[in-house]
Amino acid sequence: MQFNVFKDFFNPKFELFLRDLKINEDFLEMLIYTPLAGGKRLRPFIIFSIGKELGIEQEILERVGFAVEIFHSGSLIHDDLPSIDDDRLRRGKKTHHVKFGEDNAILTGDYSMLLPVKILNSLPVNSEISKKIVALWIDCSLNVVLGEYLDVKMNKVPNKELLKDIYILKTAALFKFCFAAPFILKDQKYDEPEKIGTDFGISFQLLDDIKDEISSSEVLGKTPGKDKKQNKLTILKFVSLNEAKKTAKEIYFNSLKRVSILGLKETSQELRSIFDLIEIS
Ligand code: IPE
Ligand code: IPE
Ligand code: MG
Ligand code: MG
Ligand code: MG
Repeated sequence: MQFNVFKDFFNPKFELFLRDLKINEDFLEMLIYTPLAGGKRLRPFIIFSIGKELGIEQEILERVGFAVEIFHSGSLIHDDLPSIDDDRLRRGKKTHHVKFGEDNAILTGDYSMLLPVKILNSLPVNSEISKKIVALWIDCSLNVVLGEYLDVKMNKVPNKELLKDIYILKTAALFKFCFAAPFILKDQKYDEPEKIGTDFGISFQLLDDIKDEISSSEVLGKTPGKDKKQNKLTILKFVSLNEAKKTAKEIYFNSLKRVSILGLKETSQELRSIFDLIEIS
């Protein structure tokens, strides 16, 4: 499936899934706010695209995509909190705490980051596969939190190794899961997909840091120029904008070459063709 039509395919199913959750109605409204506010849906797209090429059942891929996107949205709610990045705009809308208050944003973020393990734990797959998926998920999701910790606590120290750790943990961990999960579902080895996902995720965060410096709030749907203002540790502390762009592009396309070597020609092709879009939005 092409990336530009994926959202229209994914979003209605995602909304139905969320609205069907049997929880307190007021809490549910807060829970769906950020997931349904927008977003590129790149992570579920990767799961879906790789999974389809491997011949995995669509309904399972959708559920894995819901889990990852719910967690991702929750991590963004927390990332935007006044005590973390203090952002007021996300996916073109008010951030969660601006809309509902900080107390509710913390709790909604908590629930969004915890619910996915329940979704992944109840996939209709055999117990060996289930165990592997859940184990990888637990590692990757915990790593996002450790990455956010390093991001907020260590941002004053210009250290390239630390920067790489931050990228690997806060962002690449989720992409690692997205690239590897379909291979687990297929009961195949997934060490190379994990590595590819990690590299892809590093390039994705490099691009995010670049966009923060040069893009506009209209295009990004979030506030640009914040990394510099908050003295964040990003690639731009070490190299010029052009060098950063070159590095991001190299890592991105190199990871896709390896996707294609794994036999996933369509996924590789589609992710190649959307580089320009990811580079700006
Ligand atoms: C933003 O992710 C947070 C990062 C890890 C850089 P996305 O750029 O995928 O945000 P959405 O999902 O499209 O809103
Ligand atoms: C990634 O970092 C956020 C998470 C992993 C939750 P950023 O703080 O750079 O993400 P944006 O730019 O706010 O989307
Ligand atoms: Mg942040
Ligand atoms: Mg942020
Ligand atoms: Mg950013």
